[in-house]
Amino acid sequence: MPRLVIDDREIEVPEGTKVIEAAERLGIMIPRFCYHEALGAVGACRMCAVKFLQGPFKGVQMSCMIDAKDGMVVSTTDEEAVSFRKMVVEWLMLNHPHDCPVCDEGGQCLLQDETVSSGHGIRRFFGKKRTYRDQYLGPFIQHEMNRCIHCYRCSRYYQDFSGYRDLGPMQTANRIYFGRFTDGALESPFSGNLVDICPTGVYTDKTARFKLRRWDLQRAPSLCINCSLGCNTIANAHYRGVMRIEARLNREVNGYFICDSCRFGFLYANGGADNKQRPWNPRVKGKDVSVQNALKSASEKLAEIARASGPGAIASVGSARNSLETQCMLRRVCRTNKWPEPAFFVDLATYRKARGAVLGLDSGIAVSMREIEDADFVIVVGADPLNEAIRQAARKEAPVVVIDPRPVVMPLEFEHLAVAPDQLETCLGILVKKAVEKASKSLSQKATQFLLGLPSKQGNREIQFAVEALAGKLEASKRPVIVCGTDVVRESTPAFAVDCALLLKEAEKEPGIFFILPGADSFSSALLSGAEGRTFETILDEIENGSVKALLVVESDPFRDFRDRARLEPALSKLDLIVVIDYLPTGTVRRASIFYPSSTIFETGSTFISQEGRVQFAKKVHHGGVPIRGEQPPHVIRDFVPGGDHRPAWEILWEIAGERDAKTDDGVPGGPGTWIPAEHPAFEPINGLNYPVDGLRIAPGFSRDHFTSVATGTARSAKPKEFELLMVEWMFGTGELAACSDTLDSAVPDPVICLHAVDAEKLGLADGDMVSVQTGSGSIEARLSVSEKMARGVLILPRHRHLQWQKLKNALTVIPLNGIRKM
Ligand code: SF4
Ligand code: SF4
Ligand code: FES
Repeated sequence: MPRLVIDDREIEVPEGTKVIEAAERLGIMIPRFCYHEALGAVGACRMCAVKFLQGPFKGVQMSCMIDAKDGMVVSTTDEEAVSFRKMVVEWLMLNHPHDCPVCDEGGQCLLQDETVSSGHGIRRFFGKKRTYRDQYLGPFIQHEMNRCIHCYRCSRYYQDFSGYRDLGPMQTANRIYFGRFTDGALESPFSGNLVDICPTGVYTDKTARFKLRRWDLQRAPSLCINCSLGCNTIANAHYRGVMRIEARLNREVNGYFICDSCRFGFLYANGGADNKQRPWNPRVKGKDVSVQNALKSASEKLAEIARASGPGAIASVGSARNSLETQCMLRRVCRTNKWPEPAFFVDLATYRKARGAVLGLDSGIAVSMREIEDADFVIVVGADPLNEAIRQAARKEAPVVVIDPRPVVMPLEFEHLAVAPDQLETCLGILVKKAVEKASKSLSQKATQFLLGLPSKQGNREIQFAVEALAGKLEASKRPVIVCGTDVVRESTPAFAVDCALLLKEAEKEPGIFFILPGADSFSSALLSGAEGRTFETILDEIENGSVKALLVVESDPFRDFRDRARLEPALSKLDLIVVIDYLPTGTVRRASIFYPSSTIFETGSTFISQEGRVQFAKKVHHGGVPIRGEQPPHVIRDFVPGGDHRPAWEILWEIAGERDAKTDDGVPGGPGTWIPAEHPAFEPINGLNYPVDGLRIAPGFSRDHFTSVATGTARSAKPKEFELLMVEWMFGTGELAACSDTLDSAVPDPVICLHAVDAEKLGLADGDMVSVQTGSGSIEARLSVSEKMARGVLILPRHRHLQWQKLKNALTVIPLNGIRKM
């Protein structure tokens, strides 16, 4: 490892480390514009000049372009280097508009910082500045091209790192332009990262434009809870509203970047763009009441029902949207009050998939998102693979195969095996079987049995050939990773995926398994739901048979998630009491007898466990309340905060369940460390808030017997007589939080129903036709999207917020051919 001296301090760094990186390890930040850890170096800006005094290089050189070598002596403060950097700033400022007072980047601008720190204060050039025309880049990003300093970070991020092609450099030399061929919304669902990556104010957050200055903001490390990946963010609040979300570096999870759903999907916390959509006040029977009144009413009514009908008459529902604190408190109050255990999943199928996946994490081969990047073969089974980690693995030439019925689109080269859900396991099984057959002699007895049980044939010859061709590459790989979803797959698929990965391990590979779960805190939901899996469906049975009289709903919306509205409405009307605690304006909140507003992730410290078992903590950003609108807040003196009565859901539960009277060590629930570990042995390490910076990885602590799964699925007939209706999630438009974030509205595509081109032709339907899908429980209308890149025999219906998909009951809805009609 090379040893070198930078500013009189010695350091040893791994081979291949750039001098700019070596200096950073010593805490010396060499100025830079084009260099970025995630993108590497191109030597475009000349801002990182340092003086090499000894070693293989001499004189002023770019520290981002030179590898650290033994014997180097480097000075970052040498007069020649400092004056070089000062000149670079002056050159850049020849054309840069001195826009700072009206520029949204002001106060957080790298160029501004470097201009000030280099001492460039007086303009000596009086010529005309270069100007450009700005473009419309969609609802999220504002373009101001005059501010560009030609560092190429944006195009390297957008094209090389992310794989999209609709934004890049055009023209040459001094006229170079970074933008699109024509005005239009950026195609990448990761476009918001341009805001963070550009060192000047060319791309700024349009949703926050002219609303804030960095120094006005309350900022805190937070998390994204739109999905189970647990990306790290920085939340920025101002005047009681969340104003902006930025990416926060976590090398093991999201690296430097986040998706647009995470960055722009926070308006639910402000009550939408008009601040009116969030239920801000406690209510009893539809009337606003005081905090004490709501808590007292809920507490008294629950006690009354327990006295009259027994504690078993009180059922409770949480969700994967709850923080870990809330989930554990809900379970604790149910136990101490002898109420039945809470449900965290809507139906058994979702619970079983999540549970199967979580137990699979104890197989010793679970990988983090960052570790996927090191895979040399990636198999994606029934998962939305729009995931940066897979893209980074593909950039390192890992073959990627996606086994999924949907018309999958990814900004990378991949093999798509478009098969129906009952063929996902078959395809995975054949692929793994063919890849390990040669190593079968070295397998354990259980693994051999499992191998023998794997399928060898798939009904579709084309797919069979493709799988066999891929098996050779899988056989040659060393570090294959299986990424498995829990949405369109069968209940058995997660366990089967783990067994396939373990089989690869016995064939002397270093495989990884990675799951995508159905919600931010599905990991703990799956553990806290117990082996039997009490779900909302079970509770509904109990309501219907009259044994449950009161329902406590905590940050959960059965009216959104439960299929079969026709059953839900009459069942809930039988209840004597519905107590709802939430921060979203849900259908369940509207039906609450007693409602209490809970705090969002931005208003209380909360813990979430991502799909890989990574415990992460989001800090409180601000107290919150109805945001103050307008440029000048009114000067009103009050002794309360409008909309400020919310509390963390766990605290409300603690109060209404009478726990406040229970004897605790210090009379208050204390930190989460005091009650979380008691709810599940896997949570024992969670006994404080001092997690490592990348989060604390925990395991479920037990798993199922390996090599016991069997591939489900039979070969489908080539001429299906019916379609299987698959309801799926989309990047925008289907998420529960995103649905309450108006900013995302303009990015949400219209609802569609997808059908294979051959199937559509047989039915006499064409792309763009308005169609009606008839099922036994209702019909649904949407425009038809025809694709050749999806499975045959399935109808794909995104759970779009503007479609009443809950009308279509049953987990597997089978639609007869004549059930699809042109309108
Ligand atoms: S990009 Fe930076 S330096 Fe340029 S006008 Fe904006 S704040 Fe000022
Ligand atoms: S637009 Fe920003 S990131 Fe792109 S080259 Fe210009 S200054 Fe660099
Ligand atoms: S950071 Fe080294 S040349 Fe730009």
